[in-house]
Formats: sequence, structure tokens, C-alpha cells
Amino acid sequence: MIGIIGGSGLYEIEGVVVTEKKKISTPFGVPSDSYIVGKFAGRNIIFLARHGLKHAIPPHKINYRANLWGLKQLGVRRVISVGAAGGISPGMRPGTIVVLDQIIDLTAGRDSTYYEGDEEVIHVDFTGPYCPELRKSVIAAGKKSDIKLLKKGTYICTNGPRLETKAEIRFFSGIGADVVGMTAMPEASLAREAEMCYAGIAVVTNYAAGMTRKRLTAREVVEVMHKTGKRISALLKETINLIPSGRRCACRETLREAKI
Ligand code: HPA
Repeated sequence: MIGIIGGSGLYEIEGVVVTEKKKISTPFGVPSDSYIVGKFAGRNIIFLARHGLKHAIPPHKINYRANLWGLKQLGVRRVISVGAAGGISPGMRPGTIVVLDQIIDLTAGRDSTYYEGDEEVIHVDFTGPYCPELRKSVIAAGKKSDIKLLKKGTYICTNGPRLETKAEIRFFSGIGADVVGMTAMPEASLAREAEMCYAGIAVVTNYAAGMTRKRLTAREVVEVMHKTGKRISALLKETINLIPSGRRCACRETLREAKI
């Protein structure tokens, strides 16, 4: 089963035939919204709106643990996450699609692990935060369906919900960030802890703060995401088509080498 998490402005995916909506709770609380179960490119998928279908949950209040746990509970083993981001490095123009390969985590105060240390002490390997096999499928899908995308990019995750200062963006640029967003963490590391494959697609919705003279607006984020929706849906469809049936990557046995 393949899970898709949609960010700001991506509340449904074109071409998905919805069969069921599942409202569930988990040992970690309630997920952002009902899970939309359906068929896409001939496979079973489950969609979740990260901020809720009415976009009522800000990035720092999202129950990432419940969202990922719920997906796993419903049988998902691979997660494709789509999120809006501000462009920092050259070439990261609004409308650019990036298949992320690295993360810098600046979040704080979020519930970020399934292993609080009550029973077991777990340190998962996170050298490469995204599943190489799943990334490969997304990149191949871009090529096959002629959708232009960047094959790598480093995502810096801020706590939000405020946007950044110009000096912060200058600093982020200096430490190697290509795009900035507020939701990749702890989503990516929780997926790793849950031994699910996880790929991250960033849609650049705006130039990051201070990169242009314009002030940033939340509206432009959602507008660009809407405009990119068709391309993202087509990319996801082809990706799902290309994902191999069995998993060969290390994601599925993460915990074997993570226990103290
Ligand atoms: N900063 C942080 N998060 C974002 C941005 C941004 O500029 N654009 C979309 N999500």
C-alpha cells in the first residue's frame, strides 16, 4: 500500500478513484483528518491532508506521530510526501518541483519519536533521510512523463508558523539549504522509525524571504500549489506505476541496527 501526504494547497489528487474514507485514532492521538482510500494507477493508495482537508492545523501543531502511525496501521509501507517550500538556491523558482535528498532540522518542541526511552532506546540511521528506491521511482516518473524536476535538494525545516527573516535565509543558504519549509520534520524521521520508505517532493511556491523585494504572502503559496497540482498528480500517477512491487531498500529493517 502506498501513502501520499499532501501539503498546503494539495487536498486531493486528480485521477484517484476514492473508495472509502477512514477516520481512525492511534495510540499517539488523532491524525490530521480522515484517510482517503482509493485506487490510483491500478494500485491501492491512501491519501492524507497534512494540515487537514480544511487546512486548520498549522505546521507546529500537526500530530506527525499519529499521521504516520495511522498510515502504517492501514497497511502503508511507502509514503510519498508533497509539501510547499520557499526557494533559496539559484534555480529554485516558483513552480519548481524538487525530489529532496537531504534535510536540515531546525524544529523544536515537536513530538518527534515513537521511542521516548520508556522501554527501548532507539537511534535510527538518518544519513540519507529519504528512501533511495522511492526517490528513484519519482525521478524515473519525471523522465517518463516529461515533467521537469530537480533530482536533489536540501530542505531546511523551520518550526514556523512565521516565515523567515532575510538574515535567516542568508544563513540557511550559507549552510547548504536549497529550500525552506516547515513540515518535513519529524515526518521523515518518524517514517524511518516506522520502517516505512519515504520520499519528499517539494514544490517551490515562492522565493524565500529577502530573495526578492516582494513581501511573502500565504496566498501565493496556496495559489502556486494549486497551479502545480496537475503536474504533481501526473507525477504521482507515473511514480506509483513505476514503484517496484517488493521493497529492497534498508528502510524495511531500520530497527535491526538501531537498538542499543
Ligand atoms: N518558508 C517556510 N515555509 C514555506 C515557505 C517559506 O518561504 N513557502 C512555503 N512553505
